[in-house]
Amino acid sequence: MNCRNILAVCLSLILIVFVTGCFLTDRRSTKIGVAMPTQTRQRWNQDGANIERKLLERGYSVELEFGNNEIDLQVSQIDKMIEDGCKVIIIGAVDANSLSEVLDKAKNNGIKIISYDRLIMNTDAIDYYATFDNLAVGTIQGEYIEDKLGLKVGRGPYNLEIIAGSLDDNNTIFFFEGAMEVLRPYIQSKQLVVQSRQVNLKQCAIPHWKEHIAKERMLNILNTYYIDKYLDVALCANDSVAIGVMGALEDKGYYDTDDEKVPIITGQDCDRKNMNMIINAEQTMSIFKDTRLLAEQVVKMVDAIVAGKEPETNDIGNYNNGVKFVPSFLVRPQFVDKDNYREVLIDSGYYNEAEFQNP
Ligand code: BGC
Repeated sequence: MNCRNILAVCLSLILIVFVTGCFLTDRRSTKIGVAMPTQTRQRWNQDGANIERKLLERGYSVELEFGNNEIDLQVSQIDKMIEDGCKVIIIGAVDANSLSEVLDKAKNNGIKIISYDRLIMNTDAIDYYATFDNLAVGTIQGEYIEDKLGLKVGRGPYNLEIIAGSLDDNNTIFFFEGAMEVLRPYIQSKQLVVQSRQVNLKQCAIPHWKEHIAKERMLNILNTYYIDKYLDVALCANDSVAIGVMGALEDKGYYDTDDEKVPIITGQDCDRKNMNMIINAEQTMSIFKDTRLLAEQVVKMVDAIVAGKEPETNDIGNYNNGVKFVPSFLVRPQFVDKDNYREVLIDSGYYNEAEFQNP
């Protein structure tokens, strides 16, 4: 290499270091707000931590808050993020319908809003939506039941009860509809019998996804309709309501028998506590939503917004928040049960085998 070449290489290196430095400095002065709904459920802690870590790795400064499931608290946290000059705010809403006013303020300040996991309703102030395919969550739960019970080959009748999510969460409708599209025909053909006749979303909903409310509802149903009948399957929208349902079943002696037969219980989120119950054959399955992937996607959206580009989306006609169709990016979920949990959760590094009590 002659002197001129060496000089050219050195100059290029200096230029690269300079440009990268400017870029990172620019990002460091770019603040991103992350407002998650609560720390009481494992998944939101993971969501918050994953997003924060990935944003910091990319050089942004981050303001992360959890709303303790309280609407007013989350509104004040978002308000502070606006005052603190966040350029983009990522929001997992406590209540999908209560953010219009504070988001108008964000919009007037030129702040972009990404609705995270839960669609924020009735406002034109949200720009993008990053979520898991919520309809697919329900469809996978429904198909799992269809498959395990052999409904396609005409088996039945089996007794089913439905425990849905919270009505203030738009996802609840998608989870419910996804599952019911699969199961409804079997209810009509009487291969599935809902002894309580509670088959509408409003009848099946559990406010704030609370375990103890799910338990109370299930106990009522068991005490009223199952005195001399056996419950074969509980379609539970997520892991917290599944815990409530299993608590009720336990109180009624469902897990006391020596034979292996226990009801099919679905869930969602693959929380550690529920994974232990799946390994112990109390819960049957859960839906794995890889929060690492969703965090990655949402951070890519932030990068594009900050660079003045249009973020990548893969769904534009399914999520209407009452005011507009929100451009969305959907990540595909998958089921986990006793047979595949090692491959899906442990081999992928999401959990360590040692985290489970009885691997
Ligand atoms: C989420 C679920 C979660 C539920 C309760 C929903 O909006 O999509 O993953 O289980 O909220 O926190």
